[in-house]
Amino acid sequence: MPENTLSITDNRTGKVYTVPVENGTIRAMDLRQIKSGPDDFGLMTYDPAYMNTASCRSSITYIDGEKGILRYRGYPIEVLAERCTFLEVAYLLMFGELPTEKELKQWVYDITHHTMLHETTKKFMEGFRYSAHPMSMFVSTIAALSSVYPDAKLVRDPKHRMHQIIRLIGKVPSIAAMSYRHNVGFPYVYPDNDLSYTENFMNMLWKMVEPKYVAHPAIARALDILFILHADHEQNCSTSAMRSVGSSETDPYLAVASAASALAGTLHGGANEEVLKMLDEIGTKDHVPAYIKRVKEGKLKLMGFGHRIYKNYDPRAKIIRWSAEQVFEVTGRNSKLDIALELERIALEDEYFVKRKLYPNVDFYSGIMYQAMGFRPEMFTVLFAIPRTAGWLAQWEELMNDPEQKIARPRQVYTGSGEREFVPIDKRVPVPIPADYPTR
Ligand code: SDX
Repeated sequence: MPENTLSITDNRTGKVYTVPVENGTIRAMDLRQIKSGPDDFGLMTYDPAYMNTASCRSSITYIDGEKGILRYRGYPIEVLAERCTFLEVAYLLMFGELPTEKELKQWVYDITHHTMLHETTKKFMEGFRYSAHPMSMFVSTIAALSSVYPDAKLVRDPKHRMHQIIRLIGKVPSIAAMSYRHNVGFPYVYPDNDLSYTENFMNMLWKMVEPKYVAHPAIARALDILFILHADHEQNCSTSAMRSVGSSETDPYLAVASAASALAGTLHGGANEEVLKMLDEIGTKDHVPAYIKRVKEGKLKLMGFGHRIYKNYDPRAKIIRWSAEQVFEVTGRNSKLDIALELERIALEDEYFVKRKLYPNVDFYSGIMYQAMGFRPEMFTVLFAIPRTAGWLAQWEELMNDPEQKIARPRQVYTGSGEREFVPIDKRVPVPIPADYPTR
């Protein structure tokens, strides 16, 4: 029997099928030939939440969940966080290699000169309630940019794609900052092209009446490291949304808005905001055991813990914990860190978490650090979305260049009724309405 094949015996028919094994996978379409009879559609795989399904080939990010390894284009995240700037890493994700000095200079120049937003964005932003969640404003405004750049629909043209990629990476900090300034009722601050990507973001967030904003270098560097850590993470929920929506050949503004919508979920990028709410609810270290008890009773989840892929410590959480100490030297220690450290200490010793391989993930410490930097919890997921935009776009570019890819359209297992006779309205029997159905 040839190597790297799987022999499948269909006990319904006694037939044996041989399918090739490639990269540790078999092609789902190779199962279609397995039929119980001439009218059988053929075998499909059933994989809710895609627990064991590869949707694409990608060379961007590699994760080994058991070993807690994360690499962008083969470079360990620890090295990139220590040695690079965020825009340097965004270049690596996009083009596959670290940029030369000349390439980086041009890339930074291009991104920097796309940080301005069309003035109509202000009017759009004014339409939101003052208390609108920044993530809602972020998602909506990015989608609205689709109307500002009609050439973005030319998604099969590499030049047009790259132009939108540069625009989006340049503009997401501006949109994020505008969302924050709208929330707090401050006037919008225009970008300052003398500043670095993260310093300029801080400028648009926090500049008041001083003639020129000066970012604290330790805070700017810590934010840059956080951006590097959040830039990409293979086929997570929001990146899968980016690829699925992008596969319909919609424009990248609408695809990024869809990805950001997925990221906003509390089980995904929204978890960092939920961690702060959890720490506020716990209140003090001595309340931690009681909280852990409720988690073990299945009454609630320990936010910032657990991961679909990491069954070891999320390498990003380790770096964030180290980076947080650098921030606290400037801002003063966030007392919530003590509660988080106690939560981690107890959880890592407790059989409930050990058995389920639940460790702190990227969201567990990031919120504490963001809060110490002066960000409000409702801004935390926006801070995740800014750098992840570079990852979503790198994945989208890879998708658009992948000859195997086409519009995403999964199958289903149909569990509904067979064909039924139509029932005239006067013959219909009332359906019991669920107790929690909102009645008029
Ligand atoms: C991100 O995919 C990515 O790469 C995401 C991300 C990225 O960079 O894009 O890394 C960013 O989203 C990090 C995750 C942030 N989310 C949270 O911190 C929310 C809390 N975590 C969980 O909701 C959960 O761990 C998930 C959603 C992250 C992963 O869920 P899975 O893989 O579907 O695991 P599961 O829900 O099947 O859990 C397995 C078991 C279950 O217990 P049993 O039913 O077997 O008894 O572990 C339990 C779960 O109840 N469990 C938890 C838990 N996470 C899982 N129990 C308590 N607290 C938790 N946090």
